[in-house]
Amino acid sequence: MERPNDILLQQRIRDLIARQPAGHSMLREFYTDEEVYQVDCEAVWRRGWLFAGHSCEISKPGEYFTLEVDTDSFIVTRDGNGQARAFYNVCRHRGSLICDESQGHVNRLVCPYHRWTYDLDGSLIYAPGMQDDLDKSALGLQPVHIRETCGLIFISLANEPPAFDPAHTVIETVAKPQGLVSAKVAKAVDYLVKANWKLVWENNRECFHCNANHPQYIKANFDHYNADDTTPRIREQISAAVHRSETKWAAAGLAVSHKQAGMTSFPDAERNIWYSANRTTLVDGFVTESMDGKQVAPLMGVYADNDVGTLRMRTLPNFWNHSSCDHGVSTRLLPKGPQLTAIRVWWLVDQEAVEGRDYDLSRLMPFWQLTSEQDWEICERQQRGVNSRAYAPGPYSTYKEYNVDAFVRWYLAQLRTKQP
Ligand code: FES
Ligand SMILES: [Fe+2]
Repeated sequence: MERPNDILLQQRIRDLIARQPAGHSMLREFYTDEEVYQVDCEAVWRRGWLFAGHSCEISKPGEYFTLEVDTDSFIVTRDGNGQARAFYNVCRHRGSLICDESQGHVNRLVCPYHRWTYDLDGSLIYAPGMQDDLDKSALGLQPVHIRETCGLIFISLANEPPAFDPAHTVIETVAKPQGLVSAKVAKAVDYLVKANWKLVWENNRECFHCNANHPQYIKANFDHYNADDTTPRIREQISAAVHRSETKWAAAGLAVSHKQAGMTSFPDAERNIWYSANRTTLVDGFVTESMDGKQVAPLMGVYADNDVGTLRMRTLPNFWNHSSCDHGVSTRLLPKGPQLTAIRVWWLVDQEAVEGRDYDLSRLMPFWQLTSEQDWEICERQQRGVNSRAYAPGPYSTYKEYNVDAFVRWYLAQLRTKQP
């Protein structure tokens, strides 16, 4: 039943949506307000599919990792049958967290408080000290939906999640050759970024800022060139690279799926397309997204040659990945508050690769570590500006910020369907 406060909040959100000027950055409240943040948690984070982690992080039964979405903690593990499982990390006795490590390996999930013990499929198998007639079958861990595709694990907190199969099809078509399913984590780094999660996404959805902020990134990539600033020389470079790649990759079954200047269009707000994957070319001289463009780890997946360009994936609201011939880099966002986002960045290499022999973190990491940290600084600086009373929504460039605009429209559509 709706309470008066719910109705007031719904009215407030409807008013905000109505006041949001088209083609402009959002009203301050969307980036700062506690109530809007709570609505985001319900309308976006507790409804869609969230990237949780990688299959290789739970390759054996009993391996687990935890993650937090707002104030909810989750356990992601693999049961004895090899099935990935996800549960609320909350004991059914008196509510203690069960796992407080970020990852580990167990035979059973044992609550540290009074030792209630759960099987890896979530069922309660042992409840010491309790009366004989306790109905253990009704006290299993609360499950959440989980799907694995191409080595990526997604969870949904919704009772009835949106269809996952379309995302699976798109990701599998483009990403399967990368072999993330047989990868290992070379390194993961956690960040707490003092910015609303939407500012982090908006930053990700344009490369307008790349020339001024990402000296490493722009050496390897073409996506900072847009329709208004490509020269004939750059257009020739892009089409030569696309033509050469298409001819060469066709035999290997790798499709070039982004061929122009500018970033590939994503998301599709009108059709609610929250997933996408594409392969594009790198600048000549770069076979991977490393500082000098040279290979930094053994080839991954089925690649027989290091000239495979770059695979890009992204799923709203919380994941993107750039993968090259030799390594992949995944980024996951999790909401922590109106102005706080927990971000993890993973570097993945082939599971057989040995650190020190086949790769060094000092060569593997800097390209995306620098680029990521440059972005987090940008987002925090923007948040501080947005917090000022002088902030007002500013106009987007139709040449360079079409994806930011699409993201805002996608986001507002999520709120609208939650606030009819
Ligand atoms: S709260 Fe978990 S066993 Fe008591
Ligand atoms: Fe950036």
